[in-house]
Amino acid sequence: MSQSNIRNFSIIAHVDHGKTTLTDQFLKLTQPENRDLQERMMDSNPIERERGITIKLAPVRMEYKGYILNLIDTPGHVDFGYEVSRSLAACEGALLVVDATQGVQAQTLSNFQKATDLGLTLIPVINKIDLPSAEPERVALELMDSFGFAEDAICMVSAKTGLNVERILQQVIQTIPPPSGSPEATPRALLITSHVDEYKGAIAMVRVVDGALIQEKMVFCAGESEFQPIELGVFAPEMKVVSRLSAGEVGYVATGLKDIRDLKIGDTLTTALSKGVTPLPGFKEPQPMVFMELYPVDADDFVLLQDAIAKLSLRDAALQHTGCHSTALGSGVRVGFLGILHAEVVLERLEREFGLNLLATSPSVSYKVTLTSGEVEEVTTPAAMPDQTVIQEVCEPLATATIFCPSDLMSKVLDMVRERRGSFVSSEHLDTRVKLVCSVPLAEIITNFHDELKSLSSGYASLEYSVTSYQPVDVVKVTVLLNHEPVEALSFIAVRSQAEHKGRELVSKLKEVIPRQNFELPIQAAIGGSVIARETKKAYRKDVTAKLYGGDVTRRKKLLSKQAKGKKRMKQFGKVELDQAAFMAVLKR
Ligand code: GTP
Repeated sequence: MSQSNIRNFSIIAHVDHGKTTLTDQFLKLTQPENRDLQERMMDSNPIERERGITIKLAPVRMEYKGYILNLIDTPGHVDFGYEVSRSLAACEGALLVVDATQGVQAQTLSNFQKATDLGLTLIPVINKIDLPSAEPERVALELMDSFGFAEDAICMVSAKTGLNVERILQQVIQTIPPPSGSPEATPRALLITSHVDEYKGAIAMVRVVDGALIQEKMVFCAGESEFQPIELGVFAPEMKVVSRLSAGEVGYVATGLKDIRDLKIGDTLTTALSKGVTPLPGFKEPQPMVFMELYPVDADDFVLLQDAIAKLSLRDAALQHTGCHSTALGSGVRVGFLGILHAEVVLERLEREFGLNLLATSPSVSYKVTLTSGEVEEVTTPAAMPDQTVIQEVCEPLATATIFCPSDLMSKVLDMVRERRGSFVSSEHLDTRVKLVCSVPLAEIITNFHDELKSLSSGYASLEYSVTSYQPVDVVKVTVLLNHEPVEALSFIAVRSQAEHKGRELVSKLKEVIPRQNFELPIQAAIGGSVIARETKKAYRKDVTAKLYGGDVTRRKKLLSKQAKGKKRMKQFGKVELDQAAFMAVLKR
């Protein structure tokens, strides 16, 4: 099909504003005979789905009235900003979908920004107009105000009932320009996303920008290894083999490569013969931002943990890991994540899908530490923080956060930002809402910032952030001592002025969650040699069935087996036994 009959677009929408439902409607319209598509479209990971985020979906190719419409999905969470920008870079246009009951949200706004920076044509869509609480007129005004859309350009639809959905496809054809790449030029294709297929190896989802891809030796500009592709194809939406992918087309290349790390999002794919070609702009190496150490509760599970992480990172190239060892916890893995939500999703998958029982250390950002010797070190765990006496300066990552919230909550949100060492940068009022731009240390964002913002605003505020610079910070390492023994895995890095408060908070939380031992247990937090907080956990009564006075055998058995199970989840620290709850207390602080 001619290049002028191709349209590449994506959907920009806040979580739950109806992206998936709308995609299903498009498929119903373009492939009315294919009934079980819905199931397949929803085939994302259950944990991601539960949390309302789709991390990865394949692009979908639809044929409609003589046109090829490629719908390229964008990941739906703040941790994946870069991936979103690469998906958008593969398109000429995007639908900006807004829920008629909720209006514009921060994520919509920041993705709108990314799309306009890339010069995309936008089609405004107001969804869920079937709901009684819908306020399409108000939201339309907001869209006109915030983004400067003309009133008659806005599509008012219900993705649920299908009302007016066809109008969107017509708009896509009429207003989004066809791809402009040159079919004669040296082949260059943008890698949008990737996954691993059991039989075909690492699969690259690409948008061909120039030239054409055929079955010949290929290479990624940022990579080294040349490969002979196993097959080329398109997602229709099932994988369908084609012999050629031409300029403007979206499809896949089954590379046969074993390691998904060779496939870096945003990289340029070209033929081995044209290896020196100028890569497409915008490529960045994946940058982990949040670090944690994971240890199996049962030391025997270490191999299982290694395998599980290796398996997950086969599908998730942003996940970085190396081995680590702690005297108290034994062998584990140190993992770098894109953000805290990415970390939570991975932890949950490790527990649910691989049945692992894990201890995770407090999440840490990456500090740049200048030593008195002049050397600069990157420190990502409390254990690795050098002694105060040899540190000249510590710098922490600083994020620019865009928060979108109802206007009347602005002062509360700003209070929260200041409490977390953030500062106000700018604000812009949009109808009844305000867009706040703030500067907030990443270390503050990764500890419940998002959750707190949500609860403060009853779910109405939204957040988007990216790390923009590093700033000097006065931090100390707070060590936790159980029974006077330091437990490295519970220690954390904090700003000096907050260290005492945080130490006290953690110690009292630990007192709640640490199971009673058969001796009196002092729980302390210390900076260097001086103790800043202390609690004492009383000894426990050993016989869990003591209060049962003979009698009920099944109840007694149940209690004993519960106790045995509890034991299994424990980790021994000197004389002290710790379970997962103690570590979760650090994590959730
Ligand atoms: P994520 O993939 O999690 O980002 O969400 P999404 O944007 O894909 O939203 P999804 O399509 O899953 O829709 C979220 C919820 O809104 C679902 O319960 C849908 O059934 C519902 N929904 C979507 N569109 C409409 C609509 O037009 N009307 C009504 N009443 N409900 C809708």
